[in-house]
Amino acid sequence: MMPVPTVVANWKMNTTIHEATRLAVGIRDGLGSVSGPEVILCPPFISLQAVRDAVLGSQIKVGAQNMYSEASGAFTGEVSPAMLRELCDYVILGHSERRQLFGDNDDLVNLKVKAAFEHGLRPILCVGESLEQRDAGRAGAAVAQQLRTGLAGVVDITGLLVAYEPVWAIGTGRAATPEIAAEIMGGTIQGSLNALFGDAAAQVPLLYGGSVNPDNVAGFAAQECIHGALVGGASLQADQFLEIARLTARAKG
Ligand code: PGA
Repeated sequence: MMPVPTVVANWKMNTTIHEATRLAVGIRDGLGSVSGPEVILCPPFISLQAVRDAVLGSQIKVGAQNMYSEASGAFTGEVSPAMLRELCDYVILGHSERRQLFGDNDDLVNLKVKAAFEHGLRPILCVGESLEQRDAGRAGAAVAQQLRTGLAGVVDITGLLVAYEPVWAIGTGRAATPEIAAEIMGGTIQGSLNALFGDAAAQVPLLYGGSVNPDNVAGFAAQECIHGALVGGASLQADQFLEIARLTARAKG
């Protein structure tokens, strides 16, 4: 069976609680007629409760954008997996903005991934090469390394999602081509997961992320090895995100 088609909204550090609630309600109401893809909204921490309440009873799921790896303790300013477990089912880990700006290296990402599994949260593990790595012909090697280290020590990957987000494509308006994405996703990522986890790898949804919008999503979703999208900027407009969900459903239906 094919992995479940999935579209994830990553609102990043945007939306107040009020705005997040309105956006969630808009997506909830608009989604009524779309069946098919799993839809996951990832608001800032402080809006998790409000968004969760807004989508209760609908098909929409909620995720966080990050967390710390420890369950509790003296870690001022951090949020733990145990806390998130009461609020959401998913957590984005290893996003390139976390890696670049907040020191989330592969080892820390690995601790977070393991903590997510331990607490029953589904990790959306983000990987992706920098422009420098791509230009040096090391895109595949960089992504394989992020996956290997990020998943080190993990035995059971049930519930895992992997997002391929080339750093040069995020927020730049310069999306990868479906062919470039498919080469890494169907080749490097699927190959690494198969080698590490055998048959279980076939159930992992692989999402493309980086300047996804209603105009380009169909091209990505048409690739057999791409099961959905992780959407930043375009997920802040309910109509655009809904269109992305619709087009993904159509391509994967
Ligand atoms: P973008 O962000 O769609 O705005 O490029 C994607 C992401 O960083 O998850």
